[in-house]
Amino acid sequence: MIDTNALFKLTYGLYVAGVKNGAKDGGCVVDAVMQTTENTLVLCCGKTTQTHDWIHETKRFSLSVLTRENAPSAIAAFGFQSGRTADKWSCVARRTIDGLPALETAAAWLTCRVTDSRDLGSHTLFFCAVETAENGKSEPITYTEYRAELKDETLRAFNAMKGKKKMTKWRCRVCGYVYEGDSLPDDYVCPVCGVGADEFERVEDETPPKKEQRVCSVCGHVYDGETPFEELPDDYVCPVCKHPKSAFVKKTVG
Ligand SMILES: Cc1cc2nc3c(=O)[nH]c(=O)nc-3n(C[C@H](O)[C@H](O)[C@H](O)COP(=O)(O)O)c2cc1C
Repeated sequence: MIDTNALFKLTYGLYVAGVKNGAKDGGCVVDAVMQTTENTLVLCCGKTTQTHDWIHETKRFSLSVLTRENAPSAIAAFGFQSGRTADKWSCVARRTIDGLPALETAAAWLTCRVTDSRDLGSHTLFFCAVETAENGKSEPITYTEYRAELKDETLRAFNAMKGKKKMTKWRCRVCGYVYEGDSLPDDYVCPVCGVGADEFERVEDETPPKKEQRVCSVCGHVYDGETPFEELPDDYVCPVCKHPKSAFVKKTVG
């Protein structure tokens, strides 16, 4: 029998692997990294990820070693969404090491070159030479600590990030159809009239959408916490006038 809880007791670190493919930056969260000799390591990457394909193609990547402080936001940005649909690096503070994107804050930073690889079916095991290694001041976090202590905070960080994210819009000059996303793919075709991406223009200065807020009917305090108002505990009170949750009313702004 295989008890997966036993496998979770194998200990790992947590990293953001950063990749550059032409002018585009990508990367994802990985835990399957192991140092193999003084200056070599292996990285195991799932074949469905964009990071896998780009490492396979470019043979280079950075590793930013995650800390307790940056793990929730870094995992939300790099582990919960794919670079195929999101511009991950716009969600975090970043630096560049030898041309590769990396997190601005980390316990340490490495850059690696792939020297060999082995096909494992669903994953590829990349054998790598460490090209640069820079130590930081913070301590690294382990996967076990993340699972035990930071999963909820990471989910909250992800929801907050998604809530804040402002999508860019492009309008088709021919039929007026509006595409929303981080970027307009070069090979995009208008689903209404069939023209290509070069017939789309970026829409500037859209009026912000109307937003529903919860306002304390007693003192006017506007709730702006990350937890949806409905999910607050029943004993939540207004932080200003201490009236109960039931004193809050819905108000539409914008
Ligand atoms: C805590 C955590 C650890 C992960 N470890 C790995 C890993 O070791 N290897 C891997 O290929 N994917 C791993 N992933 C999954 C990728 O980070 C995830 O699929 C990501 O969205 C891929 O993004 P991409 O398509 O932009 O490359 C992990 C995700 C999380 C949240």
